[in-house]
Formats: sequence, C-alpha cells, structure tokens
Amino acid sequence: MDFVTEGFHHVTLVSRDAQRTVSFYRDLLGLRLIKKTVNFDIPTTYHLYFGDATGSPGTILTFFEWPDAKRGAYGVGGIHHIALKTADDDTLLKWKRRLTDHGVTVSGPYNRGWFHSIYFRDPDGQVLEIATLGPGYDLDEPIESLGQQLKMPPEGQLRGHRDEAGIAAQTWEEPVPEITSDMDLRMIHHVTGMTDDLVKADEFYHQALGMRLIKQSINQDDPDTLHYFWANYDGTRVAPASSMTLFGWPETARHASEGVGQTHHVAYRATDSDQQEAWREYLLGLGYEVSPVMDRNYFRSIYFRTHDGLLVEIATDPPGFSVDGDVDTLGTEVKLPPWLEPQRSEILAGLRPLT
Ligand SMILES: [Fe+2]
Ligand SMILES: [Fe+2]
Repeated sequence: MDFVTEGFHHVTLVSRDAQRTVSFYRDLLGLRLIKKTVNFDIPTTYHLYFGDATGSPGTILTFFEWPDAKRGAYGVGGIHHIALKTADDDTLLKWKRRLTDHGVTVSGPYNRGWFHSIYFRDPDGQVLEIATLGPGYDLDEPIESLGQQLKMPPEGQLRGHRDEAGIAAQTWEEPVPEITSDMDLRMIHHVTGMTDDLVKADEFYHQALGMRLIKQSINQDDPDTLHYFWANYDGTRVAPASSMTLFGWPETARHASEGVGQTHHVAYRATDSDQQEAWREYLLGLGYEVSPVMDRNYFRSIYFRTHDGLLVEIATDPPGFSVDGDVDTLGTEVKLPPWLEPQRSEILAGLRPLT
C-alpha cells in the first residue's frame, strides 16, 4: 500500500432540477448548501455542493444539474445508495417521522448488525440511507482482525425472516418540524455499489486506494449474494467517512447507466497536490488510465475508472471552499472560477435563480 486515502472527499450525483435538489437536501435533510457554482466542463449548468458548515471532506454531496438527461439506473459499475450518519436509534426514528411527514416513503429501521438503517429516495430517485454510528464493525469479530472471514448475519436480520409489519410500524411519536443538533446527518457513513467481480474489486480498493477489507458478509436483502466492505482501517480503528461497500452481482447482471437519479462518481481524499501527483504516477504504473490533474477551484482532481466502470476521483483537501468567500456566506451567491469570470453575465443569464 503505497498510498492510503483518508476516506471519501465527496460523492457527485445527477439532478434534473437544482431548486428541487436544494429544497430536499438543504431544507428537508439539513445539509448546508456550501457552494453554488457551474459545471466547469459545461458552464451553462449548475454544480451544487452540500456539506457541513465548512464543507469538510467526507461530508460533501455534489450535484450536476442535467435538466434534459434521461433517468439513469443502478447496476454493475454503479452506486446503489449513499448512507449518511445519524447518532442513534432515536434520531433514526426522528428522521423516519420527519421524512414521512413530508411525503417521502421510508423503509426500515432495519437492524444491519453493525448499524441500523432507514432507506428512501431523493426527488430524482437516488436511493439514500440514514445509518446509526453504532454498534460498529467489531460487533461480530475483533477490531484487530476485521474482514478476514465470512461473517453470516443472524437469520432474523435477513429478508423473509424479519417482522416487516412491525418494522414498518415503528416511528417517532411526535412530529419533527425542526432538525435538532443530535439529528445531524452531515457525514457520509458509507457508499454502496455493485460489482461483478469482488476479487478484482478487492485488488482495486487495496492497491489503488490503500483501503482494507473490513467485512465479508452477505446482502441481507438478497441473501444469495455477497456483500463486502472496505475502509481506511489500520487494525485498531475504521476511519469515519471511509466505508465503501459492494454487492457481488453475477457477471450477467446489468451494468449501471449514467443519468438523473444516479451517482456520477465517487471522490476520495488526497492530502495535497504533491501527494496527488505521486499517486497519479503510481496509478499509471498500475495500468490505470488516469486523467491529467484538473483544477476544480476548491480542490484539484484526477479521475480514472475501476475494472467494472465506476468513475473514481482523487481530490485534494486544500484549498477548500473558503477560497472564494468567507465561511459565513458560503453558498449564498453563484461563484465562478477565475477563468469563467469574464463570462459571468452570460452564464448567470442562462441559470434559473435558486432560493
Ligand atoms: Fe447501506
Ligand atoms: Fe467530483
């Protein structure tokens, strides 16, 4: 392991309607809109960033607005869902109540063993999960030897053996009109995708990103298939905002198709540009087709694809989101990188204002 990522930098999704996305992620889920900018490769469209107060790596979800694109579909080489963390079982039920009161269909809470989870979709169809921080991956094996053997979940957690009616009936007794501080969602708990080759996936996450297998198990909703987890793990702790998980699908399974309601790419952290440059050379040496370094204004990025087609980015922590505005006013006005500033009036004329 020449290079070890700290964990996720951000995940980028595709939305059909930027205003609807702001209403959902900022107003309903309580993420901070930290940057309104345009897609640097297609400057006529929005690129929105949400996260914690400062846009810390590991808290960031970003959205390309593609108003005319078709709906995407998950599959091999794509992402099934993104999980945001919540404190505990009480806050999980508060989220279920708040979401259902706003007309969002929620399933769960499901006991996944290592965490407890609810599931729902965003307005474009992206599957989202909210998951508790505990009990943790060391629930069923010692922290110093995670991921070395297949761990079967208790039968009662598997589809077909659960009290689905009892689960569906659970909710918080009172309406939850305000997001209290204990409910904070602003950190990626894990990201889950699909692959048709878990062996190659293990090689990829280990060699390319320095992550380690922390759990070999089965998909509790489809118990005939495997479910593997990787993370930044040093034998004593699993780093927060670093768990990538994959369902093992057969080779004949459908592949993901890019589009609205799907994840576009997953970005991992590099500490700085020097590390990123060296990492790029290392990845080229492993045979990956890696893009040149791109200036994304708030970070620098390189891109490449996994064996099954997932687009992966490595993004630097610096300079961060206060490079073009102070923390108090993040997200309030449309920001453009220096090279697009000369076209500000034309660009803004083509964008629908967001409230
Ligand atoms: Fe999940
Ligand atoms: Fe990105």
